Parts: sequence; structure tokens; C-alpha cells
Amino acid sequence: MSLPKFLSFHLIILLSAFTGAANGYYYYRWAECIYSSSNYSDMVLIDGYYFNKFVYSQFNSTVGEFVGFTEYGVRNAEFWNKNTDLMQRERAQVDRFCKYNAELSDSAVRDKTVKPNIKVSSVKEYDGTHPAMLMCSAYRFYPQKIKVTWLKNNVAVTTDVTSTEEMPNGDWYYQIHSHLEYTPKSGEKISCVVEHASSTQPMIVDWNPAIQESERNKIAIGASGLVLGIIIAAAGLIYYKKKSSGRILVPH
Ligand SMILES: *[C@@H]1O[C@H](CO)[C@@H](O)[C@H](O)[C@H]1NC(C)=O
Repeated sequence: MSLPKFLSFHLIILLSAFTGAANGYYYYRWAECIYSSSNYSDMVLIDGYYFNKFVYSQFNSTVGEFVGFTEYGVRNAEFWNKNTDLMQRERAQVDRFCKYNAELSDSAVRDKTVKPNIKVSSVKEYDGTHPAMLMCSAYRFYPQKIKVTWLKNNVAVTTDVTSTEEMPNGDWYYQIHSHLEYTPKSGEKISCVVEHASSTQPMIVDWNPAIQESERNKIAIGASGLVLGIIIAAAGLIYYKKKSSGRILVPH
């Protein structure tokens, strides 16, 4: 396994000696690698030097040199920018530090996606006055970020939707439940749309009001009963035929 690379330090970073929780100085460097494309073509390194809450010098790899934000920071930036050795190293950090580490963490985390199991179910039936409620559940997905929306006749529904947070199962997987209140109209098609890193396409599950879960179970039980009945009847028939033909064949 490859190990992450660290940003090279060209400064000795001094952390303040704290005299108490409230009375200290805080001197730190904060480097960020910012990107959104999977091939890292838009990778930017922001390497900032801070005193307390404020950045005084910052390297932005798009700009290619340090910029100062305070009198001290400007002097610092000018000093560093003149150091060709240092600048060469700093500019190489986008590849050496950012892209290299992004590849490592992406293959370890981002690319390990797991598709959710999606189920649309009825929570409340329409009783003539109160609206009906549907629930779209997505189970066992990873990573956490997910988007669950509803379509009514292929048009996005913007009202009467509530959703839970993504709830951790405790085993790295998550689940989420989105509720839609609606008044049923005949011929209307309602679908749940789930967008997640595990799929390049949105996953769409249509609500089928004719066959609900409980109905499906009844049909399954009925069908198994029917099959079982046919098997027993056939076995009985075969047994009866064998027995009766056997009697005829036995010579006296
Ligand atoms: C880095 O510099 C580019 C070009 O000037 C700018 O568009 C971008 O916003 C900067 N990024 C940050 C985080 O300051």
C-alpha cells in the first residue's frame, strides 16, 4: 500500500505557547487541494499561512506565486517569490502532493460506492379528506451523500416532501426515507428519484399502486399454495394410477 505524501515545509511553523485557553497566539499553515473532476484536471492547491484567524500570505497554484495580505505578508510573499528553488518546489506540489494523495484517498474511499436498495411504499392511504402518504426508502448505500426527489408525471415535485437525514446503520452504510403527501388522481404516475455516487444515472423507481407489499405477499402465498396443491394432486394421481394398473397387471 502506498503512503500519503506530505507537503514539504519550507518554514518552521511555530505554534504559540499558550498562556491559557483564551490568551494565546495561533500561527499555522493550512493547505487545501480543491478539485471536482475525477481526472484532477481542475486541481488547485491553496497553501495559506495564518496568524490567529487571518491569512497573511497565500500560494494559489492557479496564480503560481505567493500573494500577501498584510504588510508582513506582502514582504513574506516577495521574499518567497524571489526564491526560485522554493517556487519550483511549491509549483510542483499540485502534482506531487495534491493529485498523488487525491488518487490514494479516492481509490480507498470515493470509488468504493455501494448502490442503495430503493423501495417505494404506502404509509397512509387516501381516506377522502386527508392526503395519502408515500415513503421512498433507500437502504444500505455508501457514501453518505445522496439526493432523493419525487416526480409526478415526470415533473419534479417541490412541495409536500419531507425527508429524514441520512442515517448511519453503524456498519458504514446509510439509509434515508423521504415522504410525499399527495391526493391520488387516476392515471397519475408517481416516481422516486435517487441520485448517488454509485450510479452515473439517476435511479428511478415508479410507485405501483395496484400491487402493494402486503398484496404482493398475499399473491406470493396464494401462488405457493396453488403450486403445492398441484404437486400433491399430481403425486396422488400418479400413485393412484400405479396402484390400480399394478392390480390389473398382477396375474392370477
Ligand atoms: C485561485 O486563483 C484563481 C485565479 O486567480 C481564482 O479564480 C481562484 O478563486 C483562487 N482560489 C482561491 C481559493 O482563492
